[in-house]
Amino acid sequence: MAHILHLDASPRGDRSVSRTLSKEFIANWKATHPSDTVTYRDLGHHPVPLIDEPWIAAAYSAPDQYTPEQAAAIRPSNELVDEFLAADRYVFSIPMYNFSIPANFKAYLDQIVRPGRTFSVDETGYKGLVHNKKMTIITARGGTYPEGTPTHAYDLQTPYLKLIFGFIGIVEIDFVHADGLAFGDDARDLAITNAQFALKTAVAQG
Ligand SMILES: Cc1cc2nc3c(=O)[nH]c(=O)nc-3n(C[C@H](O)[C@H](O)[C@H](O)COP(=O)(O)O)c2cc1C
Repeated sequence: MAHILHLDASPRGDRSVSRTLSKEFIANWKATHPSDTVTYRDLGHHPVPLIDEPWIAAAYSAPDQYTPEQAAAIRPSNELVDEFLAADRYVFSIPMYNFSIPANFKAYLDQIVRPGRTFSVDETGYKGLVHNKKMTIITARGGTYPEGTPTHAYDLQTPYLKLIFGFIGIVEIDFVHADGLAFGDDARDLAITNAQFALKTAVAQG
């Protein structure tokens, strides 16, 4: 039995392609794995706080040294990290904004990439602390960024997500891109159909 963390980062509702695709993935997953459990986080509609100076001071000191202000600042991060570490598998839907991730997802990463909790650092360097987890990342993007084309370099979303989750130890990441959504109805329909197919395959593969 696996526990899944399902997260949507689009601030849109029913019009969101990434949100629609992740919802379908979870429905298919539950049909195939009825005993698995799911925690849902709607980052798009309920963003997490930005980190601030008391947060940083707390993240780099021992809990018994926290001032009341620092304890309050780090509390949401503790809850988000606990939630993140409790999952075996992640299904994150993340639109491309300005060739990268939306600010709400960056704020989430700043809360969960925590020294001593999701990575460690010592004289030998940095080490990820999150192991044996699988991640499916669903993106929705107006343009297309195929390898071997000039626009490939504009995709700062995929390499950044690979890097940051690799940094904390997550290396099994599947990307499903719904691309070219701004290129007319036919291109949009095809992109969504292809993404749906890829996600069904991902569910079947477990
Ligand atoms: C503020 C903003 C910035 C965007 N920047 C990009 C971009 O840099 N590249 C791209 O391909 N699409 C871009 N788009 C298009 C979105 O990625 C596309 O509309 C996608 O469907 C949004 O995800 P959603 O449907 O899940 O809300 C942008 C959209 C918005 C609203």
